[in-house]
Amino acid sequence: MSKNIGILVGSLRKDSLNKIVAKKLAELFPADDTVTFIEIGDLPVYNEDLEENAPESYTRFRKEMKEQDAYVFITPEYNRGMPASLKNAIDVGSRPWGESVWPGKPVLVGSVSPAGISGALANHQIRQSLVFGDSPVMAQPELYIDASKTIGEDGQVVPGSIEFLQTVADAFVAFIDKNSK
Ligand code: FNR
Repeated sequence: MSKNIGILVGSLRKDSLNKIVAKKLAELFPADDTVTFIEIGDLPVYNEDLEENAPESYTRFRKEMKEQDAYVFITPEYNRGMPASLKNAIDVGSRPWGESVWPGKPVLVGSVSPAGISGALANHQIRQSLVFGDSPVMAQPELYIDASKTIGEDGQVVPGSIEFLQTVADAFVAFIDKNSK
């Protein structure tokens, strides 16, 4: 059955390496699936007082998220953790109490960095929040991308890495089938 897959990218900058990888991954899901990039850069920092008259962006984000069958996070690592943009999106999505967008939705978490440990700590911080959110998070294959090897000088994902991304996309499609409620 065709699926709606929502992608959240933790980098907001125009020339983001994470966006390059996320766009390539989006192309690798089955053709009858609908893949949507979900905007998170316009969400005000979470403040429970705003719920009385929730900002339009909170309402739009929550509605779009609920329309998805599964979520993909692609994240940079900021100071050995996830960027504030994604933590904020996780928080906004978790409220109002009892209406969280997270429970039961299969999730793939990938991280991309040009250096160090390929964003592994940001990747795992997201997993930690989603465990609390009661989302089934795919354990394997893990998606840690070293951008210095994965993105060529032409700004495109290199062929060997496309093969790996295809393996991950296929595994996630099977994971969604197995874990959807
Ligand atoms: C970084 N960067 C970084 N990289 C990393 O591997 N571990 C880290 O903890 C950090 N910390 C960090 C903090 C802040 C505030 C910035 C702006 C950057 C470098 C980061 O991986 C690099 O800028 C990537 O290019 C960011 O991803 P995008 O924007 O290219 O997708």
